[in-house]
Amino acid sequence: MTKSYLVTGGTGFIGSALVRRLVKEGYQVRVLDNQSRGSAARLADITDELEFVSADIRDPEAVQKAAKGVDTVCHLAFVNGTEFFYSKPELVLDVGVKGMVNVIDACLKHDIGELVLASSSEVYQTPPTVPTDETVPLYIPDPWNPRYSYGGGKIISEIMALNYGRKHFERVLIFRPHNVYGPDMGWEHVIPQFVLRMKALCKEETNPIQFKIQGTGEETRSFVFIDDFIDGLMVVLEKGEHLGIYHIGTMEEIAIAQVAHLVGEYFGRQIEIVTGELAKGGTPRRCPDIGKLQALGYQPKYAFRDGLPIIAKWYDDNAHKAPST
Ligand SMILES: NC(=O)c1ccc[n+]([C@@H]2O[C@H](COP(=O)([O-])OP(=O)(O)OC[C@H]3O[C@@H](n4cnc5c(N)ncnc54)[C@H](O)[C@@H]3O)[C@@H](O)[C@H]2O)c1
Repeated sequence: MTKSYLVTGGTGFIGSALVRRLVKEGYQVRVLDNQSRGSAARLADITDELEFVSADIRDPEAVQKAAKGVDTVCHLAFVNGTEFFYSKPELVLDVGVKGMVNVIDACLKHDIGELVLASSSEVYQTPPTVPTDETVPLYIPDPWNPRYSYGGGKIISEIMALNYGRKHFERVLIFRPHNVYGPDMGWEHVIPQFVLRMKALCKEETNPIQFKIQGTGEETRSFVFIDDFIDGLMVVLEKGEHLGIYHIGTMEEIAIAQVAHLVGEYFGRQIEIVTGELAKGGTPRRCPDIGKLQALGYQPKYAFRDGLPIIAKWYDDNAHKAPST
């Protein structure tokens, strides 16, 4: 029989790309999302090929109903977007913790054998080693900083998945995405914000463009293009070990100043970086060690220089859709 999946957060950036791939590969897919951040429009062309449940992950009955009869639950519903970690920490935890409890209860009720959890690099925050593998300690540097509502919610989710998993599931898999980017990824992220700001600044005559950033610009991230990311996630689904944790990303470390220069290059403009304060709790350096997933066959294909113009074009073309602040 065809394997069936429930994808929570399935109209979000990553969720919709996962749903699309699962449908393409012939699986039965049900999506649960309240569309607070996601949009069913992302799946408009394949609505006939999936079931859609519009519900809040915090509603236990709705989650139980949606999970009934599936083989696997992929749990991605969460409040994502760094600015929300600071502005709505209690909502981040409410959705994170109640969502995880509801998902596990629904799996237990319906005897579902497989649970896949989307976690995050924020569980280890500022790691002792870079590139960072899956074995580093999980860590909250400052419980008074609201930013760590997100990392805290993900740590709770991982610990629940592992401990319930050991006892009640055939296979539990945890994946930690590391800075996934691509067209239509949402607006509250560094690349979309750089593109929109650069586009607006291009209308001014200043040359080079004075481009303000948070921090010195030497902070690094390793960005993974959405197509590569989904390839990695499919490898996890196919070959991941019970109670396995997998970093999905690339090991190409890019300085934030370089991101700004490449966005300038997309618009055909020279820029000069104007440095600023880093948000409290921001990480100076992030690069996953992806050796564990590479050993299972994962190999990202997009260099950042090749993926950046694709996303820059999408935000350039769709700038009119940006939410007004
Ligand atoms: N994008 C990244 O680089 C990244 C990095 C680390 C971890 N993650 C994790 O991966 C998962 C997917 O991230 P994304 O980038 O697609 O984010 P996203 O915001 O696009 O998707 C999250 C989805 O969850 C839904 N959701 C939020 N609250 C809900 C609720 N109360 N009930 C039901 N649905 C709700 C949203 O509507 C949205 O569709 C999340 O768990 C996120 O924390 C993403």
